[in-house]
Amino acid sequence: MSKATTIAIDGPAASGKSTIGQLLAEKLGYLYLDTGAMYRAVALAALKRGIDIDDEESVSRLAEAIDLEILPVHSDSDGRQYTVMLDGEDVTWQIRSPEVNSVVSHVAAYRKVREAMTRLQRAIGRRGKVVMVGRDIGTVVMPDADLKIYLDASVEERARRRYRELLERGESVRFGEVVDQIRKRDSLDSRRSLAPLRPADDAVIIDTTDMDIEDVLDRALELALDP
Ligand code: CDP
Repeated sequence: MSKATTIAIDGPAASGKSTIGQLLAEKLGYLYLDTGAMYRAVALAALKRGIDIDDEESVSRLAEAIDLEILPVHSDSDGRQYTVMLDGEDVTWQIRSPEVNSVVSHVAAYRKVREAMTRLQRAIGRRGKVVMVGRDIGTVVMPDADLKIYLDASVEERARRRYRELLERGESVRFGEVVDQIRKRDSLDSRRSLAPLRPADDAVIIDTTDMDIEDVLDRALELALDP
C-alpha cells in the first residue's frame, strides 16, 4: 500500500500520543488534530458557566452550542502545539488545569457530547492528510484509517512523563496525585459503554515504556510510509 494519508493514534493518558502525533504530522506535512483538546474544551466551558457536570442534558446542549476552534500555531512562543479558541477566547492552557483533568472523562462519556465532537472530527478526517489522536479514533471516528497505532506504557512511566510536564509548566503537584489521576481517568475511559478506550482489531500496538521519543517516532514513520 502507498503512504498512509489518514492516521489514527489512540492510547491511554500520557502515553505519548500528542508528542508523537505532532512530530509525525510535521514530518509528513499533515494536519495534526488532538481530539482530547476538544473534550477538554467542553469540560472547561461547563466549569466556566457553572453547569453541574452530572447534568447530562445541560452539558450536552452546551457541547452542541459552543464555538470551538483548534488553530495551528506558526510562531511557537510558549510551547503550545496549537491554539484552542472557545467562544472567541484563547483557552489553550486553561484546558490543561487540574479542574478540567478531574471532570473531562465524565463529560466525554455523554452520548450527545461524543456525537457532536465525532461529527467535527470526521469532517476533518474526510479531508485526508491528517494525524488524529485520541481514544476512539481507530475504533469509531476513522475506522477506515490507513494506519492505526495504539500507544501504551506502564502507568508508572506515564505518570512520570505527565509529572515532568506539569513541573516544567510550573505547576505544583505531587507525584502520587498524578498517578491517582491517571489511573482514575484510564478506568473511566476504558469502562464507559460508548466508544471505550481500546485498540482497534487492526491497530499496531506499541509499548513505549522503555522507548524514547526518537525510537517511537521512527517506528511510526516507518509504518506511515509502508502501512
Ligand atoms: O493528554 P491526555 O492523554 O492526558 O488526555 P487527552 O488526550 O487530552 O484526553 C482527555 C480526556 O478526553 C480523556 O481522558 C477522555 O476522557 C477524553 N477523550 C475521549 O473520550 N475521546 C477522545 N477521542 C479523546 C479524549
